Amino acid sequence: MTDLEYLEKNVDKKNLKKAKRKLEKGIPVQYIIGNVDFYGYKINVNKNVLIPRFETEELVENTLKYINKYFKGNIEVLDIGTGSGCISIALKKQNEKINITATDISKKALKVAKHNSKRNNVNINFIHTNLYDGINNKFDCIISNPPYISYDEKIMDIVYNNEPHIALFADNKGLYYYEEILRNINKIINDKYLICFEIGMNQAKDIISIINKYLKNPTIEVKKDLQQRDRMIFIHNFE
Ligand SMILES: C[S@@+](CC[C@H](N)C(=O)[O-])C[C@H]1O[C@@H](n2cnc3c(N)ncnc32)[C@H](O)[C@@H]1O
Repeated sequence: MTDLEYLEKNVDKKNLKKAKRKLEKGIPVQYIIGNVDFYGYKINVNKNVLIPRFETEELVENTLKYINKYFKGNIEVLDIGTGSGCISIALKKQNEKINITATDISKKALKVAKHNSKRNNVNINFIHTNLYDGINNKFDCIISNPPYISYDEKIMDIVYNNEPHIALFADNKGLYYYEEILRNINKIINDKYLICFEIGMNQAKDIISIINKYLKNPTIEVKKDLQQRDRMIFIHNFE
């Protein structure tokens, strides 16, 4: 379906003319409509949050497989850089034994995430902080889709011109946040842990080096998305 067809399907007749003008101006259709379907759940989006991507649904799907296989009872999960709250909401909806804490540095993003958790009827502990500063409890699972685009990478105009740059770009060839998250990870993970990252398609090798700097003998599994690109890394110590 084209964006125009999608717009026509989702916007009522009286607002369609205005909506079409926005589309012509290069506004993403998801921001015009105001919501997306993520893992079967309605997630509101506006210019303050990244539009959830299909690859992130794959991150959620794989994370749930690990959690359901290796953890029994309640599971404490930390979602770093929650944005619209899509990952947290999908995880909680799929497994009620998961307790979620979710952080973001953007207050405006957290407002959207809180709204989304209410509309989906899930309870999430949202915290406004830099990564996990000030969080002293421990988690079984850390999940993050951090900003990972290098500042010199050429990205599509529609993304560059509309989505929040704080959600997209990172220093050090896009690796900055992986290192910042992993640097003190031992302080916030339980003895048995699972760490799940979405990654850029050419970053796996560099991220594996960072992981080995901060964790002792981890098992590292790189997973491909449906287009056969390396897009997720799972790190754990149970096998
Ligand atoms: C790539 S977006 C991911 C959003 C959402 N989790 C998703 O998968 O669609 C990265 C998110 O990290 C947040 N972020 C950027 N720097 C951060 C920091 N230092 N601490 C916490 N969150 C941060 C951004 O505001 C943004 O919401």
